[in-house]
Amino acid sequence: SSTSREWIRQPIIVVMGHVDHGKTTLLDKIRGTAVARKEPGEITQHVGASIVPASVLKKIAEPLKKYFPKLQIEIPGLLFIDTPGHELFANLRKRGGSVADMAILVVDVMEGFQPQTVEAINILKEKRVPFVVAANKIDRIEGWRPTPDAPFLETIRNQSQRALNLLEEKIYRIAGELYNHGFEAERFDRVRDFRRTVAIIPISAKTGEGVSELLALITGLVQQFMKKKLVTSSEPAKGVVLEVKEEPGLGTTIDVIIYDGVLRKNDLFIIAGKSKPVVTRVRALLMPRPLQDMRMHEGRFTQVEEVYAATGVKVSAPDLDDALAGSPLYVIPDETKLQDYLRMVSEEVSELRFKVESDGVVIKADTLGSLEALLEAMRREKIPVRLADVGNVSRNDVIEASVVKKSKPEYGVILAFNVKLLPEAEELAAREGVKVFQSNIIYHIIEEYGKWVKELKE
Ligand code: GTP
Ligand code: MG
Repeated sequence: SSTSREWIRQPIIVVMGHVDHGKTTLLDKIRGTAVARKEPGEITQHVGASIVPASVLKKIAEPLKKYFPKLQIEIPGLLFIDTPGHELFANLRKRGGSVADMAILVVDVMEGFQPQTVEAINILKEKRVPFVVAANKIDRIEGWRPTPDAPFLETIRNQSQRALNLLEEKIYRIAGELYNHGFEAERFDRVRDFRRTVAIIPISAKTGEGVSELLALITGLVQQFMKKKLVTSSEPAKGVVLEVKEEPGLGTTIDVIIYDGVLRKNDLFIIAGKSKPVVTRVRALLMPRPLQDMRMHEGRFTQVEEVYAATGVKVSAPDLDDALAGSPLYVIPDETKLQDYLRMVSEEVSELRFKVESDGVVIKADTLGSLEALLEAMRREKIPVRLADVGNVSRNDVIEASVVKKSKPEYGVILAFNVKLLPEAEELAAREGVKVFQSNIIYHIIEEYGKWVKELKE
C-alpha cells in the first residue's frame, strides 16, 4: 500500500530446558529486571510474551561496557515467549522453520543434561534455531558467595579457588554433553567465533548473577547475525497460535504471536482447525492492561486497533471453537486469494496430521508443534505411524490401534504426549487390551514403549 513502511522487529527468544532447571525463574528474573529498570511509560505488556525494551537493554548493558565495548542497541527489544514448562517447545513451528529466532537452553549446572535437555537440543537442531546455554543455579555450587544481580565476570572475582574449580568442572561437563550432540561449546568469555561455538553463560536465575551478560550476549548475537531476518513491513500479518482459551464475556479466543507484518481489527485471517481450516475476521484485538501480568489478571484487557510484529496479542473472533493450538495464522489480503490460503494451511497441517492405512502406532499430542516433535522422534526411532493427530485420546483412536493390534501387536498401541485419555477411550482400551503410553516427556513415552515391546517379544 502507499503507506508501506519497514522496521526491525524484536527477535523472538524462547526458553527451553528440562523440568525444574529454572526456565520460569529465569523469565521472572528477566521480567523483574525489566520492570525494575524501566521508566514509567516504557511498559510493554503482551499476551503470551514479554518484551524487554531497548531502553532497558541499554541500562542492563551499561555496566558491561568494559566487557562488550562495541555493544550498541539497534533492536527495539527482545521478545520472550512465556509459555510455561514443557508446553514451550510445543508452539514454535512455522513454515520452513521455527517462530523462534533464538533460544536459551537452560541447564541446571548441578544436574547437567537431562531427557528434556536432549529433546530441546534435537528440536533446535532440526529447526536450525541458534541458541546459547544458560548454565543455571551457579549459586548452588558449594561455597559460592553470591552478589545479587552482579555480572558473572564480576561475581567470579569474589569466589574461592575451590568454587571456581567446581564451576569449571560443571561447565566442562556441559560442554562435553553439547559435543556429544555435535556442538562445540565454551564459556562465553572464551568464545572466539560465535558462529561456530555455542556460548555457555553461567547464571543464577535466583540471585540474578550473569543475567545481564545473558541478555547482552543475546542482543549482540542477534544484531550481528540476524538483523536482516528481523526486517518486517506493514504487510498482512503472519503468526502462530499459542493457546486457544475461553474468556468470560468473549467466548473462545486465541493467543497469538505475530512475527511478521501488521494485524488489524476486521482483518480476514485463516488458521488451522480441528476438522478444517477456520476463516474468520478479527472482532477485537486485546492487550493486557498496563502493569498487569496477563496470567494473573485474566479478563482485563484493553482493545487496540492494530498490532505490529513482533508482539503477542489476544484475538477475539467468531468461530474459534475449532482452533488448533500451534496453528499458523495468516491474514488474507483479499478474498480472491482465499483458495491459495486454504491450500497453504491445509498443506502445512497435513504434513503433520495424517492417517494412513498401514501397520503403525497411533500418536496424539496437544498442539501441532508437539505433534511434530513426536513425529520427529518416531522417525528417529524408526517407529511407523498409522495415525497422527492433535487432541485427547478418543474411542476412535483406540479402535484404530486395536485394528493394528490384530496383525502387528507391537504397533497396536497409542503414544500420547501431554493429552488426556477420555473415559470412554480408557474403558475401550482396557477391554481391547490396547496399551496407552502417556507422558509430557517424549523420551519417557519412547522408553516405556521400548521396554514393553521388548517384553512382548520375549
Ligand atoms: P518447569 O516449568 O516445571 O519445567 O520448571 P522450570 O524450568 O520452569 O523451573 P522453575 O523456574 O520452576 O524452577 C524450579 C526450581 O528451581 C524452583 O524451586 C526454583 O526456585 C529453583 N531455581 C530456579 N533457578 C534457580 C537458581 O538459579 N538457583 C537456585 N538455587 N534455585 C533455582
Ligand atoms: Mg516453568
